[in-house]
Amino acid sequence: MKVIMLGAPGAGKGTQAKKLAAKYDIPHISTGDIFRANIKNGTELGMKAKVYMDQGLLVPDELVVDLVVDRFKNPDCEKGYVLDGFPRTIPQAQALDTALEKNGDAVEYAIDVDVPDSSIIKRMSGRRACVGCGATYHLVTIPPKKEGICDTCGAELILREDDKPETVEKRLNVYHEQTQPLINYYNTKGILKSVDGTQDMDVIFNEINNIVES
Ligand code: AP5
Ligand code: MG
Repeated sequence: MKVIMLGAPGAGKGTQAKKLAAKYDIPHISTGDIFRANIKNGTELGMKAKVYMDQGLLVPDELVVDLVVDRFKNPDCEKGYVLDGFPRTIPQAQALDTALEKNGDAVEYAIDVDVPDSSIIKRMSGRRACVGCGATYHLVTIPPKKEGICDTCGAELILREDDKPETVEKRLNVYHEQTQPLINYYNTKGILKSVDGTQDMDVIFNEINNIVES
């Protein structure tokens, strides 16, 4: 199963992508998580990406595409994957199509998690991310058992640098300009599915399950 999760920053792509990947035992591939891991490890890629991420801008396509296409070569991708945060521009989507077509392959579902901008701003200020395992919490909706500490691995929870309100606004503008056109791109291909991302997380997950099982 090859699935793309689309949606604005903070729409809940990551939350749903992790659940779907766990259920189907396929990898969850988040370009944002890959960049954050590179930043944490001080790699050259991480240092380049950080400059853009901290400003709420997209990392240039040429730094993203090969990274993802290389990731597909890993044997854990044989049964498919859930892509989260990639593609994010029309050129990335075209590059993905070309890479898959070479193997007679294609994405099966592009699932748009739809949330209005006003709800996004609220969500992002409450999000806390684990520096150890990447698990995501929310101060109001999914608080950790112990404040500031990850339930899963015990590491510290932080507010992402790019979740500060002024950067979130910038990310939303970038989303509307560069990523939202993908909705039409996948609609034209006939693989777009949309879910109302303002609902309860479990309700959304049920809807996504119905889509991929239909
Ligand atoms: P990335 O890490 O992909 O960030 P993003 O798209 O901005 O999305 P987020 O991770 O912020 O949100 P999400 O939709 O995953 O929401 P989540 O599930 O956490 O990218 C970061 C940066 O990296 C980009 O800005 C860019 O610079 C760069 N980058 C990455 N990929 C790139 C690419 N392909 N090309 C170029 N640059 C790239 O949920 C959000 C919060 O809401 C959480 O606290 C969660 O608990 C809560 N929540 C989730 N669902 C619900 C619900 N139903 N009800 C209530 N609360 C909910
Ligand atoms: Mg995410």
